[in-house]
Amino acid sequence: MSQLILDIKNLTVNFRVYGGYLKVLNEVNLSVTQGEKVGLVGETGCGKTTTMKTVMGILPQPPGKIVQGEIFFQGKNVLAMKKSEIEKMRQTGISMIFQDPTAALNPVFTIRQQLYDVVQHSQSSDDGQSRLSAYDVLIRALQDVSLPDPKRILDNYPLQLSGGMRQRVCIALAIARSKKLLIADEPGTSLDVTIQDQILRLLDQIAAEKQMAIILISHSLGVIREWTNRVYVMYAGSIVEESTTE
Ligand SMILES: Nc1ncnc2c1ncn2[C@@H]1O[C@H](COP(=O)(O)OP(=O)(O)OP(=O)(O)O)[C@@H](O)[C@H]1O
Ligand SMILES: [Mg+2]
Repeated sequence: MSQLILDIKNLTVNFRVYGGYLKVLNEVNLSVTQGEKVGLVGETGCGKTTTMKTVMGILPQPPGKIVQGEIFFQGKNVLAMKKSEIEKMRQTGISMIFQDPTAALNPVFTIRQQLYDVVQHSQSSDDGQSRLSAYDVLIRALQDVSLPDPKRILDNYPLQLSGGMRQRVCIALAIARSKKLLIADEPGTSLDVTIQDQILRLLDQIAAEKQMAIILISHSLGVIREWTNRVYVMYAGSIVEESTTE
């Protein structure tokens, strides 16, 4: 049961700033086992998003620079992976829900096009299913996140949706394929409290159904207490505390 999914070891990352370097992550250690719900908390700017972007292989380099450390995902070192291997990891292993749902969606493509891009990879490799069944998969992905009227939403552009709908579309994109690990970076923080609660409930349910591990980043200790088993506290680029949530 306690098989390691993600293991971050001594990760140190700098950002190039005017006149030198800023040490943003300082020997970060963090691990997640199969199906586990892990919280990551810490004040703004302490490095939470940077840590997870590095895991996903999307740290902008430059200005970012990985100075030392290793990141193992299912036993393979992400930092030593080829581009194609990282893409494969993102298609089949890890998804991330980003802090800002507006920035995570491409404004010039309809939801259908963006969702199709994600689903297509699973279709092409499997058993040559037709485009029609791909459409069914898209509808199901939107239904999974309790979006009303999925047929209409498919043909909408992101700006035609409400904030809550966009956040749900982002979640649909993240879970359209079964993954081992879902990284949720403050999901729903920009939304009102009831919708945020609905979204967390939804994530929890989906993760349980698909047996995904979750890393939940949040500023709210109440949210962390309710939705995680174990928590890491980060301060100024370092993990300063790690314990069961209780
Ligand atoms: N592209 C960048 N160029 C330079 N510095 C950056 C860049 N991205 C992030 N930083 C710096 O790295 C530090 C950590 O940022 P990060 O986004 O990881 O914080 P965070 O913990 O996610 O904060 P928040 O809770 O506000 O989302 C900050 O000091 C930030 O200014
Ligand atoms: Mg952040």
